[in-house]
Amino acid sequence: MPAVVVIGGQWGDEGKGRIVDLLARKASIVARYSAGHNAGHTIVNHMGKFALHVVPAGIFYPEKTCVIGNGLVIDPAVLIEEITSLETRGVSTEKLRVSDRAQLVMPWHPMIDIADEQLRGVNAVGTTGKGITPAFADKVGRLGIRIAELADPDGFSERLRFVLEHKNRLLTRYYDLDPLDPEPIEDEYREHWSRLARYVTDTGELCREALRQGERVLLEGAQGTLLDLDNGTYDFVTSSVPTSMAAGAAMGTGISPRDIDRVVGVYKAYQTRVGAGPMPTELTDATGDRLRECGQEYGTTTGRPRRCGWFDGVAARYTVQLNGCQSISLTRLDVLDTFESLKVCVAYELDGRRIMTVPAGRRALFSTRPIYEEMPGWQTDTSRCRNFDDLPTAAQDYVRRIEKLIGAPAALVSVGPERDQAIIVDPII
Ligand code: GDP
Ligand code: IMO
Ligand code: MG
Repeated sequence: MPAVVVIGGQWGDEGKGRIVDLLARKASIVARYSAGHNAGHTIVNHMGKFALHVVPAGIFYPEKTCVIGNGLVIDPAVLIEEITSLETRGVSTEKLRVSDRAQLVMPWHPMIDIADEQLRGVNAVGTTGKGITPAFADKVGRLGIRIAELADPDGFSERLRFVLEHKNRLLTRYYDLDPLDPEPIEDEYREHWSRLARYVTDTGELCREALRQGERVLLEGAQGTLLDLDNGTYDFVTSSVPTSMAAGAAMGTGISPRDIDRVVGVYKAYQTRVGAGPMPTELTDATGDRLRECGQEYGTTTGRPRRCGWFDGVAARYTVQLNGCQSISLTRLDVLDTFESLKVCVAYELDGRRIMTVPAGRRALFSTRPIYEEMPGWQTDTSRCRNFDDLPTAAQDYVRRIEKLIGAPAALVSVGPERDQAIIVDPII
């Protein structure tokens, strides 16, 4: 019973947390493998409504081990707050484990994130401001600090001072900010360690051992493939290398890619994006506003209004292929319930040519125009449908059209935020 990966196929917020909460029932381990608290995964189940940023969405099953993998950057204060808030609401974190190889988000990371966005001016990426890009940049630049260092107070102290010497030069000479004093940081992180030590372990070995025992490991992606540093809409992307792609899942948990046997792409039935960057099907008119209001499209992490538009079949086809998705979970079909008619982008037009691929260059990315196919809406409440055949014919046709366009079947169609508001066409695991 190898590993199954749940990845976002668009620009994030597709409903990955919601799908993982549903699928976790059949796994022994649920592991987050990438990013940090730039992610915001909403779960609505029998215990209430939760917004998780670093803790995996499997946490609501007390018997499951939940892993925060080596691929993450962790702000310990945020993690402690998340754990405390879960415990306060009756959710046990007894079986939560944090990788000793995960990197720490340090106080200078959000400072640099925000200062850097200001310097970019009109070219700002619209980051979450949480320090995630600077933390990953330091990992790649070998100036990161692994969480394991906290177990060795003298080693941590030495490493902190070494790194901070570099960072203070950057803060003062490049960003015109005040330097940071290592002492309060050292005290603060020591205090954090006293809370987190019990969770920290070699989670790679934990996952590999589970796989050796034939147990099912469910890997929870963050962000979406179009935000991927390598294959996304660069430079309007996030910064953890293959964060959003299935290939990153093995790397970010310390298992072999050969252990992954299923890749489930999560796609909204329309398109959203938070932050700046190209979005060919964006609707800046009343229809876009209507989608935002119907879907309550406001960011889980930053509360920013999400940009909304019609389903982009070209981008989705691209990300299905990149990730090797055998099937998709289509979420938020119910949000379209009141629309008289719907559009689906079936190709792009670029410089007078019809194309079916996502271009690489900035100018091209911003100049692609969507070519739409219009379909009738169903104007019926779908939120109580539990079988595909319960859906109105126009809704079935809409799902079928998307499947054909992107080349993958919808194994699951979600018609509401709650755990059971789902049509399971194929049980996936
Ligand atoms: P994630 O980052 O991919 O986990 O997604 P987010 O949690 O940021 O955003 C998805 C939002 O859609 C959350 O508010 C979910 O509760 C909600 N959601 C998920 N699936 C559905 C669905 O099928 N219908 C509706 N109406 N809401 C959904
Ligand atoms: P989940 O896991 C949506 C976006 C930001 C910004 C860009 C870079 O909830 O789907 P960063 O702070 O990562 O350097 O910002 O990436 N972004 C997300 N958008 N969902 C997310 O995560 C995102 N994580 C980052 O809005 O455009
Ligand atoms: Mg989200």
